[in-house]
Amino acid sequence: MRLFGGIGESQNIVGLDIGSNAIKLAQLALTRDGLALRKAGSTLTPPEGMKNGIIIDPLGVSQAIASLMEALQVDASLAVGGVAGPSVVVRQVSLPAMSAKQLRQSIQWEARNYISFDVEDSILESQILSRATPGEDSSMMDVMLVAAPRQMVEACAHTLELAGLEPLAVEVQAFAAMRTIVALNGAAEDTTLALVGIGASFTEITIIKGENFILSRIIPIAGNSITEAICSSLEIGKEEAELLKETALQAVLSEEERARLDPAAQQASRAIEPLMDELIREIRRSLAYHDYQQKLPDAGAKGQGADQILLSGGSAKLVGLAEYLQAQLGIPTAVAGMFGATPSDSNQESLGFLKEHAPTLVIGVGLALRELMPAATGKSRRPARSDRQVSNEPPATHDSSEVAVAGGRKAE
Ligand SMILES: Nc1ncnc2c1ncn2[C@@H]1O[C@H](COP(=O)(O)OP(=O)(O)OP(=O)(O)O)[C@@H](O)[C@H]1O
Ligand SMILES: [Mg+2]
Repeated sequence: MRLFGGIGESQNIVGLDIGSNAIKLAQLALTRDGLALRKAGSTLTPPEGMKNGIIIDPLGVSQAIASLMEALQVDASLAVGGVAGPSVVVRQVSLPAMSAKQLRQSIQWEARNYISFDVEDSILESQILSRATPGEDSSMMDVMLVAAPRQMVEACAHTLELAGLEPLAVEVQAFAAMRTIVALNGAAEDTTLALVGIGASFTEITIIKGENFILSRIIPIAGNSITEAICSSLEIGKEEAELLKETALQAVLSEEERARLDPAAQQASRAIEPLMDELIREIRRSLAYHDYQQKLPDAGAKGQGADQILLSGGSAKLVGLAEYLQAQLGIPTAVAGMFGATPSDSNQESLGFLKEHAPTLVIGVGLALRELMPAATGKSRRPARSDRQVSNEPPATHDSSEVAVAGGRKAE
């Protein structure tokens, strides 16, 4: 994988996407020839390792990470972790116009209106995105607010430490996914992309325009709920249901296809249909909200929403999912990949993993890129020790660069 060329020192960073189902690892290096994906792999998250996006068994999860690193022969010790889930807030809000200093002082108060958990127990960041242009209401300004429960961020950093890694930052996963897509796909300024990441516990839809983050929303339908629907409809165990699930959607696409299946597979496809309908409704709702927020004209039932949908996460491997969403939403849809990337210095395990699981690497790669991209593009941004403080400091707010780098949206 070559994204940029001819840059100095060799630096290795591990991006770790720790999900409720699986831990995904990507080791990226910045070499003289540019950025290279060196190692990639995954391992199952220990049962009960994570709950509601919070690692509740740091020791167990760290042991799984350490074993994975050993298997992949990871030779890096700097790492970036990610957080996601219903309790992570990433919102563009409109606040009374004020200076950056005033915002820092008042954000905790303002944030109470937007987050459902205790502000005192959270880590908050804010960034002024834009002030009113002449002719607009000058009493207000747009601010990006990012908040996560302190316990969630700290447990992630602690787990990386237990695994023998030095956590440089803990970032919102949606930003990491966006960074990978923008870096690998290029970002046409007027193109709106909806990244739909479907994991085990939740689906996250992130809408970006060009290089700019627009919004992110969590939908509580994903791999687990699909498996559970099959389990309860057929009264079978999880393992059997997982197997039936892989191809169940194909049959939803066509009645003829369904009629050819054996009875169990037919029932599985019927069981997942209402869930898929609900997922479509929620995606449509997010796209409609995007249109409303961006003040786009009403484009009817299908909505304007996005020019393209890119799918990622383990459940993006559901056979026929891209075709299904495209047919239902009328928007070109594809599964995100590493776009022809080949690990440059990789063992067979990483190569095999990449071939089969590229859509699950989108977040891990983006987390590692966080530290490498500024250097690769020539801006000096040492893997910042101060970034670690995002996860460890009291809930003082961090203005400007943190969210700017994370969100990819230009600050004022
Ligand atoms: N071939 C496949 N077909 C369908 N689903 C699959 C396939 N392979 C994996 N999955 C599903 O992908 C999900 C795991 O994906 P992923 O690793 O992205 O989740 P996670 O990041 O651990 O979860 P979360 O972020 O929601 O906590 C599981 O529900 C699994 O059943
Ligand atoms: Mg995940």
